[in-house]
Amino acid sequence: MPTLTAASQLLTEARKHQSWITSIRRQLHEYPELGYQEVRTSEVIRAKLDELSVPYRWPVAKTGVVAQIGRGDGPCVALRADIDALPIHEEADVDFRSRTPGKMHACGHDCHTAMLLGAAKMLKAREAELPGVVKLVFQPAEEGGAGGNMMCEEGALENPAVERIFGLHVWPQLATGSIGSRPGVFLASAGSVTITVQGKGGHAAKPNLAIDPVATAAKIVCELQTIVSREVDPLEPAVVSITSIHGGEAYNVIPPEVKLIGTIRSLTMPGLEFLQKRVRAMAEHVATANRCTALVEFPGHDYPPTVNDAYCWDVAQELGREALGEEAVVELPPTMGGEDFAYYANRVPGCFVALGVRNEAEGAIYGVHHPKFKVDESALPIGSALHTAFALRSLAELHDKPRPAL
Ligand code: NI
Repeated sequence: MPTLTAASQLLTEARKHQSWITSIRRQLHEYPELGYQEVRTSEVIRAKLDELSVPYRWPVAKTGVVAQIGRGDGPCVALRADIDALPIHEEADVDFRSRTPGKMHACGHDCHTAMLLGAAKMLKAREAELPGVVKLVFQPAEEGGAGGNMMCEEGALENPAVERIFGLHVWPQLATGSIGSRPGVFLASAGSVTITVQGKGGHAAKPNLAIDPVATAAKIVCELQTIVSREVDPLEPAVVSITSIHGGEAYNVIPPEVKLIGTIRSLTMPGLEFLQKRVRAMAEHVATANRCTALVEFPGHDYPPTVNDAYCWDVAQELGREALGEEAVVELPPTMGGEDFAYYANRVPGCFVALGVRNEAEGAIYGVHHPKFKVDESALPIGSALHTAFALRSLAELHDKPRPAL
């Protein structure tokens, strides 16, 4: 294996780019765009890649960009950032707050994009020494749009074929200067459900002449709770949450219809399919027993679980310790959050790594998807350095196949 720059040295180097990375992050933060609408975001990414003389393919998955650094004859590893924002109105106490009411980078994808551009800068500077190719995957629509899947379908992992992939996600539960993940399943398979309960509307004073979908919907919500508590192995994580109930407008009218919306999650695809099957059966039968009908749908994309390759996690741990110290790496339990990095990790060995951004002194304490979500920006160069280290180490190893033991 060629001599590699130590991860700690990469971190020192990345810190010199702190203001460059931070300014990109803030620029993106001010103009958040939702899934597949990241037109301006994509422009910023391409402008920065142009500035660095990094070639790229665009559009991939509508607004996505796949950049490439290195030479074509060696192995290929990929680094991935998601670029989309959320339909949340920002309340964070920062002076680069979202300029678009109702939209916010509340999941830190602005940070992911800026950190990957930081890595692009560092990798480009050592392009001549790269024993292969690093692909930088900037993907749209992580938040429910399965942009990762579309990127794969449009060839993000081909030509040259990616052999290993890493992704970073800002993690407000972890302090800045630490990282975490785990071997195997890290994040859940997740999907949504809508249940439309139909009855017959009428005057609330004469319930006998109507068929009440409100009472039926209430029973369905209660019955669904027993799927997880009575039907699933207590040692197997499962979630069935109804998160919205809508029906009726007036106090004295029985509405004809009630709509329930929710989410269903498991750590395996068969687990998710079991829950969906039982939600459908239970909703339909409770409705029938109450003279209503229930139309059960699972709209959108069912994200598969995010499963880390154990060896890739070993690589990330070793480099994390090298960059940040022995105590800086933690093995996290799986979480029931979903993440479309799963689509890549399903196809090639990969690892999704949580990057600590919590800093109580700066008020960076809120969880992702919170309107006050805030990150400690001193974590940004850590992300760039780790991306760079993951790529350099992986290329060197894959170049010297067979894969060495740590
Ligand atoms: Ni996210």
